[in-house]
Amino acid sequence: MDDKKVGFIGLGKYLPENRLTNKELEKIVDTTDDWIVTRTGIKERRIARDDEATSDMAVRAAKNALQNANLEPKDIDLIIVATITPDMFFPATACIVQNKLGANHAPAFDISVACSGFLYGVAIASQFVKSGIYKHVLLIAAEKMSSVTDWKDRSTCVLMGDGAGAAILSEVKEGGILSVHLGADGSKGDLLCMPAGGSRIPASMTTVEARLHFLKMQGNELFKRAVKIMAEAAQKVTEPLGLKGSDISLVIPHQANKRILNAVAKRMGIDPEEKLYLNIEKYGNMSAASSAVALCEAVEEDRVKKGDLILLDAFGAGLTWGAVLIKW
Ligand code: ACO
Repeated sequence: MDDKKVGFIGLGKYLPENRLTNKELEKIVDTTDDWIVTRTGIKERRIARDDEATSDMAVRAAKNALQNANLEPKDIDLIIVATITPDMFFPATACIVQNKLGANHAPAFDISVACSGFLYGVAIASQFVKSGIYKHVLLIAAEKMSSVTDWKDRSTCVLMGDGAGAAILSEVKEGGILSVHLGADGSKGDLLCMPAGGSRIPASMTTVEARLHFLKMQGNELFKRAVKIMAEAAQKVTEPLGLKGSDISLVIPHQANKRILNAVAKRMGIDPEEKLYLNIEKYGNMSAASSAVALCEAVEEDRVKKGDLILLDAFGAGLTWGAVLIKW
């Protein structure tokens, strides 16, 4: 069982057409293009249509991944959707996706780990393939962050975007996932949360008026932790294999903030210009979808070559984090 190599046989993405630029945000909240670019690296983000839910974006990304893997929906044995913006509380968005795709015999479930969702999903999916239980697992990370964004809060609304990425994990002959590290710290959950709408504070007129159905974030506190935790997570998947940061061909991190990622690259001893993959400029922070879309685009842009050591590294609400080392 240990000899079975698990990797990515198809990747896909979907980004809504509608672009929201920093200049347009200047008309909505008290902010400037200069502040947003300097503090975050974001120039624009995509916003889904009103009639476009997370499952719609997920299905588009999944179809793209299936096509790239030369598979049909009926070939999929399991569907996992990583999202904190599901179509509704239940049924799971993965079940809605299963129906829309016609992947009739695949069990389906969601995972809710915010920005680390794609990496947690890779960890789960790869175990199902490695154990021989399933042959092809469809992992989708999809978010409609605009649906939980408070467009009156300049400290958060400039950061988020919508989109979806998908991957099919299966047995591969060469390369594959070499090492996985996951972590969580529930004691810091209040640093990034959506307070109402769950069983603790059910939805009411009062919660809507108090704007408690939008994400609340203590950006500064998260910033400090993100740098430390992402650098440590990278070490956890490299050091046991006798590898250093400099051995990594490309780091594809969760796209939360360019300054965070440059600081992580510095701690890892890598040149960000050469070895850090960034697309935050175009999409902002798409929570779980960020890592999935970034991996897909890095491959599309030929930044990933056969035999390369690729590091996925993510951090988000929970707190949760993860790192995945892949030989391509
Ligand atoms: N435009 C103009 N000014 C602003 C804006 C804005 N959009 N937002 C905040 N400011 C102001 C603040 O009010 C503050 O003003 P003050 O000094 O007069 O009080 C000033 O800018 C500095 O604010 P800070 O919050 O200290 O700015 P900082 O440099 O920390 O940047 C940011 C804020 C971008 C949010 C940063 O802290 C960050 O990226 N944090 C990490 C986010 C993260 O990693 N989240 C986890 C993953 S996301 C997930 O799981 C869904």
